[in-house]
Amino acid sequence: MTILVTGGAGYIGSHTVVELLNANHTVVVVDDLSNAKLLVFDRLTSITGKKVIFHQVDVKDSFALEAVFKKYDFESVVHFAGYKAVGESVAEPLKYYTNNLQSTLVLLSMMKKYHVKHLVFSSSATVYGEPKKMPIYEIDPVGGTTNPYGTTKLMNEIIIQDFVFANKDFKAILLRYFNPIGAHPSGKIGEDPQGIPNNLMPYITQVAIGIRPSLSVFGSDYPTPDGTGVRDYIHVVDLAKGHLAALNHIKQQNNVSIYNLGTGKGTSVLELIAAFEKASMKKIPYTLVSRRPGDIPVSFANCDKAFKDLGWKTEKSIEEACKDSWNWQVNNPKGYN
Ligand code: UFG
Repeated sequence: MTILVTGGAGYIGSHTVVELLNANHTVVVVDDLSNAKLLVFDRLTSITGKKVIFHQVDVKDSFALEAVFKKYDFESVVHFAGYKAVGESVAEPLKYYTNNLQSTLVLLSMMKKYHVKHLVFSSSATVYGEPKKMPIYEIDPVGGTTNPYGTTKLMNEIIIQDFVFANKDFKAILLRYFNPIGAHPSGKIGEDPQGIPNNLMPYITQVAIGIRPSLSVFGSDYPTPDGTGVRDYIHVVDLAKGHLAALNHIKQQNNVSIYNLGTGKGTSVLELIAAFEKASMKKIPYTLVSRRPGDIPVSFANCDKAFKDLGWKTEKSIEEACKDSWNWQVNNPKGYN
């Protein structure tokens, strides 16, 4: 089938495109390249031996997006396009609300106009705010998000649910990702943060390669076994496969379904550093500093629902994810530049 992937040049988007191409789908990517590089498409072809159709389009631009909907007969849409830097969203909330909400509104109205009835949306565990207990289940309360980025994910979920409620022949799957790390094992695509990385793994790989002198570990007094924050780190290739599983399932379901995509296992910052050091044979100098505002102590998923309904579960270990993140960094010391 022909699938539209918004934001398909980005980190999770590009890995998902690989899985869709490998499953013999025709993939059309729209991306404004605001946080991605054109080179990613050569890399995708070199991994899969297939071509991706690409249009440089800002999803908010309804005129440009409509031209794409006119040109192809889409069966489904996977919607990744959005800004994702937590700290920037606190400093520039309007930029985040405008971009992340407007793009979903324009996309949904285009899907309605052109009768494209299946949507898989890239959501985040951030919608759970500060959960009261672990692991997190899909039925647990949402809200209490700690930054505008997270709030746009939650608002988009609500917008999509209201849209599907009003348009009964539409179906949507909301995928709540935990913490994606790793890269394609080929080392050809991976995470390419601009400037100082916000997230732990790209920061670690930049320290390992000598771009940054040392890592700050945010908080060592959390109520966790070693005092550092605990997250559910999922290999990005496993995460990408979750999208394929969702697309395969969407026809059989009604209305909206929600799935956590994680490993079900928590790993602390210090444990991740140790796993990375083992995989890369590099020492990661770090200092323990105070907590980062907005961080929660612990977050990990229960993913039984995704296994039961989608037949999906993770296959790759933290060690493989560390190895692949490092392989990507070594092969691309300056990312796609
Ligand atoms: N951390 C450090 N030092 C760093 C960066 C992070 O110690 O330089 C710690 C954090 O305090 C946290 C853990 O590493 O304990 C993971 O932090 P990340 O920034 O990598 O990830 P978060 O869990 O904060 O956020 C991620 C995504 C968000 C998403 C959220 C969902 O970045 O987009 O998961 O729960 F919303």
